[in-house]
Amino acid sequence: MKKLYGVLGNPIEHSMSPLIHNDAFKRNGVEGDYLPFLVEEDALEKAVNGLKAIGAGGFNITVPFKEKVIPYMDELDPFAKEVGAVNTAVIKDGVITGYNTDGPGFVKSLAPLIDHLFSGKKVLVIGGGGAARGIYCAMAKTEAGRVDIANRTLSAARKIVSDCHNGKPSDVLSLADAEKSLSIYDIIIQTTSVGLSSLNESPISLLGIKEKTVVCDIIYNPLKTKFLREAEDNGAIIQTGVDMFVHQAALAFELWTGISPDCERMRELVLEKLGG
Ligand code: ATR
Repeated sequence: MKKLYGVLGNPIEHSMSPLIHNDAFKRNGVEGDYLPFLVEEDALEKAVNGLKAIGAGGFNITVPFKEKVIPYMDELDPFAKEVGAVNTAVIKDGVITGYNTDGPGFVKSLAPLIDHLFSGKKVLVIGGGGAARGIYCAMAKTEAGRVDIANRTLSAARKIVSDCHNGKPSDVLSLADAEKSLSIYDIIIQTTSVGLSSLNESPISLLGIKEKTVVCDIIYNPLKTKFLREAEDNGAIIQTGVDMFVHQAALAFELWTGISPDCERMRELVLEKLGG
């Protein structure tokens, strides 16, 4: 019998998760159906329990519920607990377990750009929200030499470092200070909402980066943000938000089915849908 999967969020109509997961089910011969579910905040608990009651296989959780869904999980994967956000739930034998594949998905997406050589790399994460938290925690577990974090609100960045700190050198910087020391970084990751649905906004200027810095933006609408265009103009190797999106989805698919889907195929589908 077909298993039900889906994504809970609000808004949800533009989610590309149904497209890539349904395609992956088909291509891998898995009996699954993946649907978008628009959920109001006060109905989140009922939605989660309803999926559990009908024997769904699992689901994704997106904005604005990644933190709010935690109390409705029966169990939490240690990394999701550390990050304090769940984007993937697995339902097995009536037990719902919450995972976070955003951070590990991002690290996986980055690996080919640096030949898997995180060793000694100096990393800057820009942002202090939920996305920054997942990426910071996952990057702090790599071999990177240091992972600094810059945000408009310093206290939010400090909280991330104190919650996820694992002994790796980490400075908390203002956006202005980060701008002045960009040349020391090998990898710069933009996780704020600045530049989303806009071609003219960027959280910092990238004039000071060194050539061949790997610069990533987790935004994929627009595909090439002002931040990435400026990075490219200054000699960076850039990565758009599509790659993180695809890799977090691939890890979720793997948790549900035990199968690693074809990430390149997922990427093509998303790019086609974005018109790029
Ligand atoms: P998400 O869960 O997607 O990370 P979020 O938790 O709302 O979203 O976080 C948004 C991030 O964008 C934060 O780092 C926020 O900075 P603050 O912590 O100072 O609020 C950042 N951000 C949003 N608007 C910004 C702006 N105009 N300038 C700089 N940073 C901004």
